[in-house]
Amino acid sequence: MSALRITVAGSVNLDLVARCDHLPVAGETVLGGVFAQHPGGKGANQALAARRLGAEVALLACVGTDANAEAALSLLQSDGVDLAGCGSISGASTGVALIAVSDAGENQIVVAPGANAAFTPDLLPDVIDGALIAQLEVPIETVCEAAKRCTGLVALNLAPAFDVPDSLLERADLIVVNEGEAAFYGVERLKAAGGLLAVTLGSAGAVLYRDGEEGARAAPPEVNVVDTTGAGDTFVAALTLALLEGRTEADALTFACTASALSVTREGAQPSLPQRKDVDALIAAGKTGA
Ligand code: RIB
Repeated sequence: MSALRITVAGSVNLDLVARCDHLPVAGETVLGGVFAQHPGGKGANQALAARRLGAEVALLACVGTDANAEAALSLLQSDGVDLAGCGSISGASTGVALIAVSDAGENQIVVAPGANAAFTPDLLPDVIDGALIAQLEVPIETVCEAAKRCTGLVALNLAPAFDVPDSLLERADLIVVNEGEAAFYGVERLKAAGGLLAVTLGSAGAVLYRDGEEGARAAPPEVNVVDTTGAGDTFVAALTLALLEGRTEADALTFACTASALSVTREGAQPSLPQRKDVDALIAAGKTGA
């Protein structure tokens, strides 16, 4: 079977990460552990996740002309994501995410978008052939226009939460949110858009609605949680790919929950994204939570 082709339109960041025993509250300074730097950004993470799970992937994105650009694109490049549609914005800095990760693996993220904010609709190709995955770390006009120009399935990850027009929700064939985002948009509004809606539930797995009715529910395998950064991105890519492969909704959800669970067992957004063989092996071993 030849690999499925997916285009991802979205952000590229360099993640600057400090671990700490607990996440700071407003006004608090916590002493952290060793500093680490990883490629990240929801768009880039979803592109790399889809690639490692077996798709041919093209990323549409923008980086700056600073030294961070090369580091941010390094794993995409080495894993063979097509970066021909990834532009450099003269004078802009590459997006940066400041991330605190607690000993429990939870995170707090602040993104300075830099060049991601300059990813305007005129930088999109006239037609996006086949499937598209998009998120909300680039201008909303660009996300809407990319969805309009897409000829195939549109998967929309409504993260980070930001108000979006109903027309975009209606164009999406698959919407993915976490519980916080579901509360922000209102589950009923998302269900009313039609199509598939996946809500991730953290360690409890995920639920998939079709036309507003629950169609499938899956739990992840039990894993040692090290860092949850990028788990949602892995889920989005895995679910989209599995649906494109024609799996049943229940199987696709199990695949996505298993891939996502594997991603939390290692540090960093992109370094932790799992390979297809490891997800398949875990499922074959019957190590799913469902
Ligand atoms: O979803 C995780 C990502 O969110 C991080 O890699 C960070 O860059 C932010 O975009």
